[in-house]
Amino acid sequence: MNKRAFIKSYGCQMNVYDATRMADQLRAEGYAVVDEADGADLVILNTCHIREKAAEKVYSELGRWKGARGASGAPTLVGVAGCVAQAEGEEIIRRQPRVDFVVGPQSYHRLPGLIREAEAGAKPVDTDFPAEDKFDHLARPTRRAITARGVTAFLTVQEGCDKFCAFCVVPYTRGAEVSRPVAQILDEAKALVDAGVREITLLGQNVNAYHGEDKGRAASLADLVDRLATIDGLARIRFTTSHPNDMGEDLIAAHRDQEKLMPYLHLPVQAGADRTLKAMNRKHTAAAYVELIERIRAARPDIALSGDFIVGFPGESADDFEATMEIVRTVGYASAYSFKYSPRPGTPAAERTDQVAEAEKSERLQRLQGLIAEQQRGFNRACVGRTLPVLLEKAGKREGQLVGRSPYLQPVHIPADAGVIGDIVTVAITAQEGNSLFGVRADAPETGAPPARSEAA
Ligand code: SAH
Ligand code: SF4
Ligand code: F3S
Repeated sequence: MNKRAFIKSYGCQMNVYDATRMADQLRAEGYAVVDEADGADLVILNTCHIREKAAEKVYSELGRWKGARGASGAPTLVGVAGCVAQAEGEEIIRRQPRVDFVVGPQSYHRLPGLIREAEAGAKPVDTDFPAEDKFDHLARPTRRAITARGVTAFLTVQEGCDKFCAFCVVPYTRGAEVSRPVAQILDEAKALVDAGVREITLLGQNVNAYHGEDKGRAASLADLVDRLATIDGLARIRFTTSHPNDMGEDLIAAHRDQEKLMPYLHLPVQAGADRTLKAMNRKHTAAAYVELIERIRAARPDIALSGDFIVGFPGESADDFEATMEIVRTVGYASAYSFKYSPRPGTPAAERTDQVAEAEKSERLQRLQGLIAEQQRGFNRACVGRTLPVLLEKAGKREGQLVGRSPYLQPVHIPADAGVIGDIVTVAITAQEGNSLFGVRADAPETGAPPARSEAA
């Protein structure tokens, strides 16, 4: 019987993508990759270091695996991957000796070798930033594996960050900015679409700083989107996460001109006071961000905007926080994520002596989240009465329902007999509840799916 492997991911979408690539590799090594932790012969925790809570979760989770055994009766092999692995390396094994190996985000193409070493009793730690390109060495997903993952997929096109925001660990855990070559990305995208994928989200820590090699020249993210858009059967393209300073004119124009590029943009500003933005090393002002948003909206008036915010950055005064509330009111978000500042080891902001009190952070977060929730409800409510194209993704939670996504990334529920997973159907939105929309089919049923899908279904 095949050995069973279980991978649990924390953190951002790139970790989700990395987990699929690790799973593909393990399958090539003969493992069955399972969704159930019980009886796994190999467990990999794919970790996140962004905030203290995220990082600490790993150690409590590791405790659970102390006495675990695989189906064969042998002790479960336990590996730690991802950004905590990169940041803490050997320290993880010192703190939790149950861990058999540690592998950073740039070395997971070496997973098979590390597993063999760990099985032989060594406790390998690989947190190198190797010279070779991991993507040249990773196993390709099988058609079956892609199909099983559904009609939407992530695809990393850029990794790492050179921005060094004063609060953030990512430049240390993911390394310097690297862009994958266009041909390599097109290849991967074609394989995805060929197996039934209809929507691809391009990933990068600074995805709009993308500058991948294309026949000896550098392609921008807008160039890459145009190239991907020529793939028949690929219906929708998204990208995340962007930095305001890398929002090029061609990318703004793509939001107007490129039909396959969805009208949704995650563009974090983090804070609204120039003083705080400067201290964060964001390298732009609040006014510059608002002006950028105006240009983006001029190009694509219906675009749904999303963002990230940090409250209680060291030195943030009550007035500074009011400026954050104000920029949220000015921009108007369709959704946004907000966090209490968490001091991270090795980052400049963690050294500051003017940390904001925890109670103050909590109060600010609550107010900000209240405002964001109100804006989100407003955005969703304004969709009732509209007709939206919806990519059907999976069965809904309630029986007799299918759930898909609007162009603005909202979940949309429709009666299950109204379409087939993978189709894009026109839906008249009739109601809204929480973050979800509900509707009925407004067009005649059609079969717009690529031929590959019916074969895979
Ligand atoms: N690469 C992305 C985001 C990386 S982390 C970008 O540049 O936008 C995702 C979000 O986590 C950040 O946008 C920020 O809002 C938040 N974050 C990062 N470090 C944090 C910290 N030390 N404390 C609290 N939130 C943090
Ligand atoms: Fe972190 Fe800033 Fe880089 Fe985003 S741009 S990953 S917040 S350092
Ligand atoms: Fe977390 Fe690393 Fe992503 S720190 S947010 S998993 S890049």
